Formats: sequence, structure tokens, C-alpha cells
Amino acid sequence: MRINPFNPNVSLMKYQIREIVDVAQRLSELIPGFKVENENIGDPIARGWSAPPFLKEAIKKAADDDKTYGYTHSRGYPNARKWVVEYAKRFSPSSTLDYECVLFASGLGAAISAIYHMLPKGVRVIQPTPSYPTHASMESFSAGAESIAYNLDPDNDWQPDFEHLEKQIVDHPEIAGILIINPNNPTGAVYDAATIEKMVALAEKYKLFILSDEVYFRMVYNGHKYVQITDIARGRVPLMVMRGTSKDVPWPGGRCGWVEFHNVDLDEDFRKYADSIKKRILMEVCSTSLPQMILSDIYDDPGYEKWLSDYNTQLEKNSNQIADILSESPYLNVNRTNGAFYMMPLFKDGVLNNRQTLPVPNDAAREYIERGVSRRDVPLDLRFCYYLLAATGICVVPATGFFSPYFGFRLTTLDRNEKRRIRNYKRLVSVIEQYVKSA
Ligand SMILES: Cc1ncc(COP(=O)(O)O)c(C=O)c1O
Repeated sequence: MRINPFNPNVSLMKYQIREIVDVAQRLSELIPGFKVENENIGDPIARGWSAPPFLKEAIKKAADDDKTYGYTHSRGYPNARKWVVEYAKRFSPSSTLDYECVLFASGLGAAISAIYHMLPKGVRVIQPTPSYPTHASMESFSAGAESIAYNLDPDNDWQPDFEHLEKQIVDHPEIAGILIINPNNPTGAVYDAATIEKMVALAEKYKLFILSDEVYFRMVYNGHKYVQITDIARGRVPLMVMRGTSKDVPWPGGRCGWVEFHNVDLDEDFRKYADSIKKRILMEVCSTSLPQMILSDIYDDPGYEKWLSDYNTQLEKNSNQIADILSESPYLNVNRTNGAFYMMPLFKDGVLNNRQTLPVPNDAAREYIERGVSRRDVPLDLRFCYYLLAATGICVVPATGFFSPYFGFRLTTLDRNEKRRIRNYKRLVSVIEQYVKSA
């Protein structure tokens, strides 16, 4: 090539949630009868959930409407944006959100890319660690540098470590915003009003905006309640809220998410930044039309709240059952999941080393795994996840794949099949023991 078109910053992008699927695929070619237990991807449909009947009905109805097949307004149908405003007011009655401050994207993944893409070079958004990798990857890719992170504390129910967060903000004057993911992926934590207040107060003190990823906000249980950051930040801090249909409908294949820009009047620079994100999305012409057309048919259906309540009841039961089983392992520290559908058990200090293995069914598969873990810088939890996958088919994602400073793994609590769920997690406990004692 005359000029090398390869951008080396791609090494800043990690998405092990999917990368481990390639490993599973290769193993299924090498091991006859290999069966993968997908505990890696937050896709309810893949774990036995059906799309609710009212969603299917709404799609059928929309299929007869020619509008479904056309472009929408580049920021989203005005009626869909007005619906978002009304929906936001249901949870936050004094919200002053205007429909011109709502922006649709083809899934929040697309919105996340646009949000970080439009930051000027060198301007940063501090990320939680562990973090959802699309945020941390796209932020660092846009910046051309490793992410700047604040710790979530596993010894305090995965709550943000505010001392660390403030120190990072002070040490890094290039930080313009704070990302908060609540309920949290990958930890399953939910933040109470005091935590949200501290977050808003810090943003206010240092004149930062907050980016609040709330894609799981309807999925909170174990006695916790969702606290609306819009109420606490009103009049104080510029705020972007991200919501969508991937998790609480669940319709991840619908590719529909939206961004709400709150408190834009507080700061002219933030207003201009918000406008630049709208312009960036305009370049994509429009976001997926169908979900926008039927948002009200889904969320306003008389059956939706009951459906959601049953969904949450089941997720609460699943997650507590899994936490109880995994807590029996003397090698793990387990925090309960209080929202979303993830858990991140951590290995206790010193439990893992780079000699541990599990029996792998045949030579070809063993050689493949050994090659995969042979690099000197392979994190110890990735090594464990590879052996676990090859030996049992159980597919979880290493915590370090979420930019975690601790070794562990993230699982989903979605599996609807109770027998299989219990069997898999009991097996996981015994296989961890086998792995730890192997060297
Ligand atoms: C915290 C968080 N934000 C955003 C997304 C992406 O959602 P979407 O399907 O709308 O792209 C996910 C998906 O798992 C997520 O966990």
C-alpha cells in the first residue's frame, strides 16, 4: 500500500464477549459433540426467552404499513421522540425534556460510537472499571489512548470508589465527562440515591457532564429501586441518558436505542457538543424505522408491565440461585446481582497461576487452547475461561475483558432452564476446584 490504511489504535478495542465465541466455534470443530453453554452474551432470546406476544403483534401490524419500509427523520420520527419525552415524564414527572433533545440510533452501540467520536482530540470521558467494553473501547479508540478509569469496589457491592474517581478527575484535567452505567453491566450493581447524588455533586464541582447508560433501568430487583438521575441532576449538571429496547422488551435484534440530552441550557459548550452528536447521527441517514414506529404499542400495551414484572421475578430468582451456588466455592468472592442480568464473581487473591489446566477432550483441542494461552501477557482469568470452555463447554467472559483490574469472570443470569442452570453452575464450582488444585 502507498500509505498504510491500518490504524494501530484498533488494539485499544476489546470485545471479549464476542471474541470468545470464535474460540467456542473453533472448539466445536475440533471436539466431536461439543456443546456450548452460552453464558457470555446478554441476549435473553439466546437463553430461552420469547419476544412478548404484544411485540410480535405490533410487528405484524407494522408489516402492513408502507411507512415501515421508508427512512425516518434522521434524528428519529417526531412522534417516537415525543413518545420518549412522555415516557421519561412517567418516571420523572417534572422532567423538562424536549423532543428536539431526543436522538434515535440503531442500537445504543451506534450511539456510543457517535458520542465518543465527536469529542475533540484529547478530551476524555472517565470510564468505570470494570466497564462495558463498547464504552471503554470506543472512548479509548477515539482518544487514541488507554481509557482513564475509576474503580468500582467489589468489597463495597461494586459501588463507585468516589475517592478514586475524584483523584482521577483532579489528576486528569482533560476529563470532560463521567460515564455511569446503572444498573451495571458487568457487575449487576444498582446505585442508590446517595451514590447518584455523590456522582452529580462531583460533576457539578468540576463542571463535567454525565453520560448515564440506563439500558437496564427497568430491570431492578432484590428490594432495590431505580433512582432517576434526571431528578437529581436537574438544573445542576448537563446529562445524557441512554435507553433502548434491547433488554427490557427484549428486542436486541431490533437495533433501537435513544439518547436524551438533559439540561442543555446549563452550558453552551455542552449544547454544541449535543448538536454535533445529532449531526454525526444525521450522517447515518436514519436509524431503524420499525421499532420507532411501534414503541408505544410495546411499552403502552396493557400486558407490558405484567410481562416486565414476571421477567424481573425470574431474573431475581435466577441470579440469587446462581449467587448461592457460586458462593459455595472457597476460591471466589461473589456479589449478588440487583439489576440487569449479569454477575462478576472474582477469584480470591493468589488463587490463579499460569500453570493450572483442565483436561481437554483431545490433542487437537488441547494444542489449540495451549496456543491461545501461551502468550506471556495472557491474563490469568482468560486462561481459566479458555480451559473452562474447552473442558466443559461453559462459555463465560474473563473479567479482564471488561478492563477489570481484578481476575474473575462475567456470566449472565438469563438461562430459563432451571435444571440446566443449576447443573452448569454446580459444575462450574467443582471445575474451579479442579482447576485451582491442578498446579
Ligand atoms: C451497558 C450497555 N450499554 C449498551 C449496550 C448496547 O445495547 P444495544 O443493543 O442497544 O446496542 C449494552 C449491551 O449489552 C450494554 O450492556
